[in-house]
Parts: sequence; C-alpha cells; structure tokens
Amino acid sequence: MRTFLEHAAFRALGRYRVLRGTEVRFRGAFASYDEAMAAVRPTRLAGYDHERVAPVSREFMQQLAFWDYPVLYWLQRLAATETTRLVDAGGHIGVKYRAFAPYLDLGRFDWIVYDLPALVAAGRAERRPEDRTLSFVDRIEDAPAADILLASGLMPYLAEPLVALVRRMTALPRHIVLNKVVTRDGPTVVTLENFGVAEVPYHIRNVREVPDALATLGYEVVADWTIDSLAHRIQTHPELGRSTYRGYVARLRSATTATSP
Ligand SMILES: C[S@@+](CC[C@H](N)C(=O)[O-])C[C@H]1O[C@@H](n2cnc3c(N)ncnc32)[C@H](O)[C@@H]1O
Repeated sequence: MRTFLEHAAFRALGRYRVLRGTEVRFRGAFASYDEAMAAVRPTRLAGYDHERVAPVSREFMQQLAFWDYPVLYWLQRLAATETTRLVDAGGHIGVKYRAFAPYLDLGRFDWIVYDLPALVAAGRAERRPEDRTLSFVDRIEDAPAADILLASGLMPYLAEPLVALVRRMTALPRHIVLNKVVTRDGPTVVTLENFGVAEVPYHIRNVREVPDALATLGYEVVADWTIDSLAHRIQTHPELGRSTYRGYVARLRSATTATSP
C-alpha cells in the first residue's frame, strides 16, 4: 500500500512539473534514443555532437572527482610495467587525460581519445605541446589495437550497444574499464539531459545490461563499484526510482594468466 501511494505521489509530482514547464536536469522517459531525440525542444540543439556543446561541463570534467579514483587505481595497476595503449571512448577533448596527469605517468601511455566529430575537432584544436601522448579519432575502428578500453561517462550517452562498439575495435582490448554507468532495476529508459544549449539523450540502463554485454564479449568482471552520491531521479518521472551509478573493470577471459590482476 505504502509503495502504491509513494508511486502515485511521485507520479503526480512529475506530471505537475511537466505541466508547469519547470526547467529540470532530466526531462521525459522514452523507450529509445531515437524517441528521445525526436522529443528535443526546437529551441535546443539535439544531442552531443555540436561545437557549442563541447564547452559544457568541460572544466568540471577536467578535474579529478572522487569517483575517478577507482579508475585511476586500475589504470595505475594495469599499466604498471609496460607502455600501455588506451582507447578513451567518450574521452571528450581529453578531459580525463588532463585530470589524471598529476597522478599517472602519461609518458608511458599511448592515449587515444575516441569521440564524436565535434568533440574530436575541439580536442585537436586545444591539444597542448605537453599532451605528447594524446591523440584523437572519431571512428573507433581507426584506433590501433589497444590494451585498455576506458569508457568513463560514455554509457549514458552511447546510442549503439556496447557489444557493437567493442566489436568495431581493431582487436578486443585485454581490459575494459567503465565508469559512471547509470543503471536501474527495471527496463532501460532514455531521458533527456538539459545541457542549456542542448538536450542530450541519456540512458539509464537495466542493471544487467552492461555485465551481460561484457560476458557476451568474453570478459569477466574483476572489480565493480557504485557511486552513491551521483544517484538521482528523472524529475518529470520520479516514480521510475533512483538510478545507481556504477563502475566495472573487466578482463578478457582468453587473456587470463596466473599473474594477471
Ligand atoms: C560526459 S562526457 C564524458 C567525459 C569524460 N570521459 C568523463 O568521464 O568525464 C560523455 C562523452 O561521450 C561522448 N559520446 C557520446 N556519444 C558518443 C559516441 N557514440 N561515440 C563516442 N563518444 C560519444 C560525448 O561526446 C562526450 O564527450
């Protein structure tokens, strides 16, 4: 009974916000990326791939947030002994390369950002002389075979299935490190994130989706974590519940050796 009443109250609150046209961070609940794109307001840019979207949250993402520490730990651990080639999918203009610079020996990385064309253009334009080991591609298949696929903050925005993205790589990387995967217990929902200048489809995935995709690709999850402070509800659909942000490190099964982490 309590759950039913709670659900009804949340639903009423969400619909009230819709009716009032309250400006919110997350608006709508759609069954697919395409449905969400079709619902973008005409006064906003649709999706991430625009020059004017590149500056949104850039300074914030270039800092080291506490939820980046598991990623930092695993990159240090996985790259402890040799030069490591890493594909940073959804790497923006190289924001995490910059955030990690004081803590990782980036000279030992070959760090390739894969992102959408507008972000890659902005990243190349902003590349500094000290970004010696940083490069960009806007097609993941153009990146050479890598040891690590990092996808930090990509999964909420990725329209294609993770399996398809990884299979487009030149070779399966030995490790996949994912952070800020947004999940829920029910079916995957796509909402629209308000970027001010744009509205961007944002996936809140069923909690099994990413682990199942990793298993399909032949990976075993060797570490995972949640980031409780990032949990949120879709303001127009609070009855859908709070999302949970997760991270995963997965290792290719065929690459397993007695000494590997
Ligand atoms: C929130 S940013 C993440 C930035 C950074 N990696 C971090 O963890 O803070 C999400 C990035 O995913 C990129 N993105 C969205 N769809 C993509 C796609 N299909 N392929 C590659 N990158 C994509 C966006 O352009 C954006 O740079």
